Amino acid sequence: MSNRFKVAVVGATGAVGETMLSILAERNFPASEIIALASERSAGDKVDFGNHKLTVQNLATFDPTGVNFALFSAGGDISREYAPKFAAAGAIVIDNSSAFRMDADVPLVVSEVNPDALDSIPRGIVANPNCSTMQMVVALKPIHDAVGITRINVATYQSTSGAGRSGAEELGRQTAALLRFEDPNPTRFPVQIAYNLIPQIDAFTDNGYTKEEMKLVHETRKILGDASIQVNPTAVRVPVFFGHSEAVHLETRDKITAAEARALLEKAPGVEVVDNPAAGEWPTPVTHASGSDPVFVGRIREDISHPRGLSLWIVADNIRKGAALNAVQVAELLAAKRS
Ligand code: A2P
Repeated sequence: MSNRFKVAVVGATGAVGETMLSILAERNFPASEIIALASERSAGDKVDFGNHKLTVQNLATFDPTGVNFALFSAGGDISREYAPKFAAAGAIVIDNSSAFRMDADVPLVVSEVNPDALDSIPRGIVANPNCSTMQMVVALKPIHDAVGITRINVATYQSTSGAGRSGAEELGRQTAALLRFEDPNPTRFPVQIAYNLIPQIDAFTDNGYTKEEMKLVHETRKILGDASIQVNPTAVRVPVFFGHSEAVHLETRDKITAAEARALLEKAPGVEVVDNPAAGEWPTPVTHASGSDPVFVGRIREDISHPRGLSLWIVADNIRKGAALNAVQVAELLAAKRS
């Protein structure tokens, strides 16, 4: 009989944590026990696990002994404090925060792209990439393997749920307030997000790019295993609840036609091509991504401004493939090795 595992979800009351629980249930993860952890504020509350309810426990007083897999999504500070404790107690931590992503001894893994990186987990911690990087590399991997990507220009259109439950709630609250001619009162974002766009996600760094943008640079190189790829990102928050979109412009070492790229993407794991301009078919966050697993790719075309340029439109559910689903897929890969 195959093994069953004790699994902890840290941040179980959050937007990503609750989706981790629902995906673990939906995919029938081989669990002997699932433990929901959050702050003291939520201890005793109930969260859904399939048709069951779990009682949330206080992370601060929880003993991690015996936990096999711990899926963390409670922010970088919590990961920095607690992930090493879970790892020291014998768990493999799959961490959705940015705390360890760029550490050389922590694999940064997208299940369809670089699963071999799971062969060595020296600190007992595996990092889950940033949501924008995640969906982009799923689509770019087959193109990089075929013709070599030398440069990526990307503009992101990131939904408010990327800022957690409070981000999605702020969009709803402001939209309703504005329709009643009331003040939007921004709290979670620096200015009004309803009916607006915000060209800053996270803090600025010294080079004029934001931290969110620099994640796209560094994480893409690490996951694709190619430090020479040049990445020029602009990350924008948009008034969408769920689903990130990206306009991506590639320059490749060898020429690839749109038809060749479409054929590669049609057989790429985790990708669904929705690309029929004649019928007006392209993916959107609401009509395709929200609540779905695949990374959707459309608007595949050769760049008229560059001899080896290719343009793509990439859309995925930032909470599912961008975070919770990939964490569970990584846990599945590790569980399969231990069965
Ligand atoms: P809580 O609901 O108890 O605050 P989101 O990213 O959607 O905002 O969710 C953040 C998650 O991180 C929530 O589950 C939240 O739990 C959890 N969290 C925040 N602070 C702590 C903490 N100090 N200890 C444990 N979990 C925390």
